[in-house]
Amino acid sequence: MGITSIKDLDLKAKRVLIRVDFNVPLDNDCNITDDARIKAALPTIQYAVEMGAKVVLMSHLGRPKGKAVKTMSLVPVARRLSELLGTSVNMAPDCIGETVRSMVNGLIPGDILLLENLRFHIEEEKNEPGFARELAELGDCYVNDAFATAHRAHASNVGVCNHIAAKAAGFLMIREVEHIEKALKDPGRPFAAVIGGAKVSGKLEVMENLVDKVDKIIIGGGMAFTFIKALGQEIGNSIVEDDLIETALSIMEKARAKGVKLYLPVDCFCASTAKDGQEVVVKTIQEIPADLMGLDIGPSSITLFSEALEGCNTIVWNGPMGVFEINAFSRGTMEIAKQIASSKALTIVGGGDTDAALHESGAIDKIDFVSTAGGAFLEMLGGKILPGVTSLEI
Ligand code: 3PG
Repeated sequence: MGITSIKDLDLKAKRVLIRVDFNVPLDNDCNITDDARIKAALPTIQYAVEMGAKVVLMSHLGRPKGKAVKTMSLVPVARRLSELLGTSVNMAPDCIGETVRSMVNGLIPGDILLLENLRFHIEEEKNEPGFARELAELGDCYVNDAFATAHRAHASNVGVCNHIAAKAAGFLMIREVEHIEKALKDPGRPFAAVIGGAKVSGKLEVMENLVDKVDKIIIGGGMAFTFIKALGQEIGNSIVEDDLIETALSIMEKARAKGVKLYLPVDCFCASTAKDGQEVVVKTIQEIPADLMGLDIGPSSITLFSEALEGCNTIVWNGPMGVFEINAFSRGTMEIAKQIASSKALTIVGGGDTDAALHESGAIDKIDFVSTAGGAFLEMLGGKILPGVTSLEI
């Protein structure tokens, strides 16, 4: 990674503009339901404070599409951040403009100011140069700690870099990039990828890239049925993406040609719909009734996948094995989570659903690295260059 670390910048008495990803889930009363992303940014913020910086934090929250949407305000985040840091964090009413400029200029070393949601301005997502310059004027130096947004080329993570010479990555950004890079460039072998979730679309590039790198690829979740159907099997009423059957076939062919072992479920928990409180039956894949759908991997698949993971030295995981939010269909995901957590392999997990499943399984603390990112994690695994990382190169 040819980028500078925050440790290489002179922060003393400087206005340090830090892009963080405080895009956290909120309930209907705007309470934060998972503060992991706020906690993950603390080391960088605390370091800047310790170095005597005047800290200016900026983030997006949700997708307000250029409008000031009250329910997407960062005010609850400022409150939670104050609690976590044990110090007061001031909240700016906007992220640009005269009031914000004078609040920033009034900071003294050690102060922390959080700007209001960047995406209240449409110029943020458009990476509009004037907007990027206005943001840049709020800092003497710039630190990007928002790996989870690194797949976006927005004003606050890409455009801003054209206007500030002193730029660097924060500790979280460095940790994320280093862990994923290590898995992709120099993995301990055997290297297994566990890929799940409802849909193949969105994970195609990841799978194609991973087939070049891994020794084993394990496919679970709803997306497995597109692969199973591609092999000419009946899948009952299970979810399928018919337009991707050819692609699924070509991924399987590529895996075969490269000697990569590819595992699909051999049985599943089935019901008529993805709802609680209905009759659930276990069926082999060959015998899924026409009116039922597979909603979780079955016991034999759990054994198959667990055995495939035994002895692996690197495991990356993205996507649940079934509809784990519903108790009746959570077993496969929970068992695979425990299996990965108990492995001696370097274990790297990413994606919002996978993260939630790991929390639920109680296994999260045993994973070597849990990425804060969803899309950026997948894109990096997919071999893509992330604009939010390259913009930091000097
Ligand atoms: C995420 O939650 O993955 C990041 O915060 C990026 O959010 P976005 O998908 O709305 O750009």
